[in-house]
Amino acid sequence: MKFINVKLKQNSYPIIFSDNNNELLKNFKKYLPNRKVFFITDTNVSKLYLKEIVSLLKKENFTVEYFVFKAGEQSKNINTLVDIYNYALKAGVDRKFTVAALGGGVVGDVSGLFASTYMRGLGLVQIPTSLLAMVDSSIGGKTGIDLEMGKNVVGTFYQPKFVYINSNFIKTLTPEHIKNGMGEVIKYAITFSSKFFDELNVILDKSIVSKKDFDKLIYESCKFKAKVVEEDEKERKGVRELLNFGHTFGHALETVTKYKKYLHGEAVALGMLFVAELAERIKFCDNVTKQKIRDMVVSAGFKDKVGLKLSPADLLNIMKKDKKSVSGKIRFVLPKKIGKGVSGIEADNKIILNTIKDFLK
Ligand code: GLY
Repeated sequence: MKFINVKLKQNSYPIIFSDNNNELLKNFKKYLPNRKVFFITDTNVSKLYLKEIVSLLKKENFTVEYFVFKAGEQSKNINTLVDIYNYALKAGVDRKFTVAALGGGVVGDVSGLFASTYMRGLGLVQIPTSLLAMVDSSIGGKTGIDLEMGKNVVGTFYQPKFVYINSNFIKTLTPEHIKNGMGEVIKYAITFSSKFFDELNVILDKSIVSKKDFDKLIYESCKFKAKVVEEDEKERKGVRELLNFGHTFGHALETVTKYKKYLHGEAVALGMLFVAELAERIKFCDNVTKQKIRDMVVSAGFKDKVGLKLSPADLLNIMKKDKKSVSGKIRFVLPKKIGKGVSGIEADNKIILNTIKDFLK
């Protein structure tokens, strides 16, 4: 069993890595003295893992309630949240309960927002089952839902009691969903470490990525994530913004297509190609850096074309509403070189619009 401690001023917590769900049970017993758990999960994950985990807990006399919502980004909205509030109240979920988010990024974000607001806050445990949630969204306390006009616009920072990562859960993911998580792994490599970038390239070149490789990628990604969250928990110092590399354009793509056309990682992959292009155009990085980013994104199996007829002006307007924007001025995370992302970079709107136009061709 390995673990990483996320050291925060108020509430430090462990990320526990184990292939044995008895370790999860052990930590439920340790961190939840009331032995009351409210699971939130989705229609895919509930069929695979909910029963086994609930029966482990019931054997130890835990009181368990659960809510299952339809899998997918389109559920990440206020209606789902209201359904969970109503269900919880009817089921008698009170302040002695802890919320357990069992699922991918959508489940984690919605459950976290529920936990941070229901009865003014219940405890939270994150049990990520997708690669994306394991390497990124389950750690660091971001919670949220989407609005029609923008992704993750409503949300809170709310740290869990612990995060439990069992990499066996990813065995049931489709190749699309593995790729989805890989987008965030690539983000860490480009933004933080040329050494990790080279290691990732070696792994991506293999025809089959082994469990050992995945364990390494997950563990290393969690180390980057924990370090960033420790430095800038509430995204006030520009450090945590680095985790948004590729996300400004990616979120705009997701929003403009009503969260129906791209998985988050696919949109972020296109976003990383977009910012690499923009960075080269404004002479922030050289062509070699842009090319290396492109090669990695493509070798992970992502498309390098948006592939849809979209309005450049709409995309620009959505980006102006991004949480990092100030007074409508878009602030990007751009690559300086491999392993060095820089946050808070502004560019002329005309250049951004032209880059979008060319990128959409
Ligand atoms: N996924 C971005 C962040 O946690 O800050």
